[in-house]
Amino acid sequence: MRTLITNIGELVTNTPDAVSDNASSAGLGARVPDDGTARLGIRHNAAVLLDGDRVAWVGDAASARPHAGDDDLEVVDAAGRAVIPGFVDSHTHLVFGGDRSAEFASRMAGRPYEAGGILSTVAATRAATDDELRTRLAGFVAELHAQGTTTFEIKTGYGLTVNDEQRLARLAREVTDDVTFLGAHVVPPEFDNGMGSDGDPDDYVSLVCGAMLDACAPHVRWVDAFCERGAFSPEQTRRVLEAGAARGLGVRVHGNQLGHGDGVRLAIELGAASVDHCTYLSDDDVPALAASDTVCTLLPGVEFSTKQPYPDARRLVDAGVIVALASDCNPGSSFTSSMPFCIAVATRDMGLTPAEALWSSTAGGAAALRRDDVGRIAPGARADVVMLRAPSHVHLAYRPGVPLVARTWVAGLSI
Ligand code: NIG
Ligand code: FE
Repeated sequence: MRTLITNIGELVTNTPDAVSDNASSAGLGARVPDDGTARLGIRHNAAVLLDGDRVAWVGDAASARPHAGDDDLEVVDAAGRAVIPGFVDSHTHLVFGGDRSAEFASRMAGRPYEAGGILSTVAATRAATDDELRTRLAGFVAELHAQGTTTFEIKTGYGLTVNDEQRLARLAREVTDDVTFLGAHVVPPEFDNGMGSDGDPDDYVSLVCGAMLDACAPHVRWVDAFCERGAFSPEQTRRVLEAGAARGLGVRVHGNQLGHGDGVRLAIELGAASVDHCTYLSDDDVPALAASDTVCTLLPGVEFSTKQPYPDARRLVDAGVIVALASDCNPGSSFTSSMPFCIAVATRDMGLTPAEALWSSTAGGAAALRRDDVGRIAPGARADVVMLRAPSHVHLAYRPGVPLVARTWVAGLSI
């Protein structure tokens, strides 16, 4: 099956080197302002050919002339609308049971967000059957596709027993290649002295690094840990991440969400692909990130839903840090699956331009997952393409809350 999308008013490729006439085609004269637009590799009056699950060709609409009688080819007339790479959501927690809308409502009435809320989702997830979790997950995947997300990562972390963590890893693996083992999400009650049990949190860390990792490793690509007061100490985090890395897993870190801490430093030291949240960064964290390959993944839905201060993404980009945006879709701190929503908030409240926010939601997410097959539209890339109901990518931030995704192709298939 081949698809030719033609008459594209604005095509975002994220491959600026392949676009020579960017300045003139942007209609801005010879000089393009340094607002991040140049990295989008924008083409005007463009066309894209999808062949099977790959992008086969990108060029001018004028030179894309299908041959009569080409039965195998669907021609889609974009009628001047914008086409962008599918969003890469590099951070979600989509396998869970239960509902925490009451907790959200009480937060909006003034209560603070606390990591302990995770345990109510753990109880509901343990009580749910595989089929209940699978059905709900399928609903989220449909929601993601409808909003233009074509690649997504999913973490475990609401099971916290060997069997339940393995179950969540297996279920997540049914819908994505990028599954992350997050046994070190919080210490479950049966191991936590502070909650009246006889257990010891360090024994839980040993379980995570041993039998739980053994059970989950065959189903996952990544290991993650929540390095935060109320969750895991830097020493405990290091044990978990080093154990995962020794099993060949890539490293990711939840860090610096609820306060300043060692998450960023540890992530860089361990060569993590990404450190996520980064709501509270020190003056040392920023240059250290800039000098590293570790992507800084910001999660605007979290600050929105927990009423915490927004991190300064402008400062990070200006320092040369690779910034990704992701939804962190989960029932506690950020129950949105919408990357357009994240783009709007990051633009309005975190100092990114619309172009930078789009780059961070596509190419930035791909960098956070260390993938070069997604996050761009170029020959050989996976055919993950989104047609907007808008003439330009700027509308993603300019028209917040409006469903602007007209059509999504995932690996060449129209969803
Ligand atoms: O990424 N920070 C830790 N974990 C999730 C929150 C999970 C929850 O509240 O259920 C997060 O924000
Ligand atoms: Fe998270």
